[in-house]
Amino acid sequence: MKTILWATLTANGNYAQSGPDNPPKTEALEDFSAKAKAAGNFIVGRKTFQEMTDPSRISQEEQGNTEGPFAGIDIVVLSKNMENIPGVTVVKSPQEAISYLQQKGHLTALISGGADIHNSFLEQELVNEVIFNVAPVLEGKGLNLLIDKDNYRFKAVRLLDCKPLGSDIIQLRYALE
Ligand SMILES: NC(=O)c1ccc[n+]([C@@H]2O[C@H](COP(=O)([O-])OP(=O)(O)OC[C@H]3O[C@@H](n4cnc5c(N)ncnc54)[C@H](OP(=O)(O)O)[C@@H]3O)[C@@H](O)[C@H]2O)c1
Repeated sequence: MKTILWATLTANGNYAQSGPDNPPKTEALEDFSAKAKAAGNFIVGRKTFQEMTDPSRISQEEQGNTEGPFAGIDIVVLSKNMENIPGVTVVKSPQEAISYLQQKGHLTALISGGADIHNSFLEQELVNEVIFNVAPVLEGKGLNLLIDKDNYRFKAVRLLDCKPLGSDIIQLRYALE
């Protein structure tokens, strides 16, 4: 199975955080939806999933849409503490997420965040490709994507593609070999 990590970075290299006063750009959300539809799935951390489904952050239009933007997509939520979340599959480890999607016949798994999840997959060398959307924003102290949280090490990657998404976002795609 091919695993693709999809993330938005700030222009100064942080793992971008969003909130009501700093929402994600429409172009990035549309790109994520298209990639989730193409893969037929996405893997997400429990905290990011709760943010995505928080009624105070979802538009009236989306709340009225019973199908939702991810109808028909296998959503896999990673949590060590929660057993059950309606409408999604909850797993306890990155490897379990991949095994579940593999067993369902998926050929690609899309790893959608947040930072904890991305770093778990990167540390365990379970990522084949990364897609970084560099957003036109700078941050102060924030989150980072790391292949090793405790030690310095590096890994060369190969640039596969680079394209503007609109609204000053640049999308970079790299293969990890
Ligand atoms: N830049 C982007 O593209 C992007 C995308 C999404 C989110 N975000 C940002 O990321 C932030 C949220 O990220 P986060 O790191 O705080 O949370 P997260 O990765 O969304 O979720 C963390 C939770 O996932 C579970 N978890 C983490 N590692 C695990 C592992 N190895 N095995 C099993 N379960 C595991 C734990 O859940 P339990 O506590 O339930 O055990 C943990 O508390 C927000 O600020 C959001 O805006 C950015």
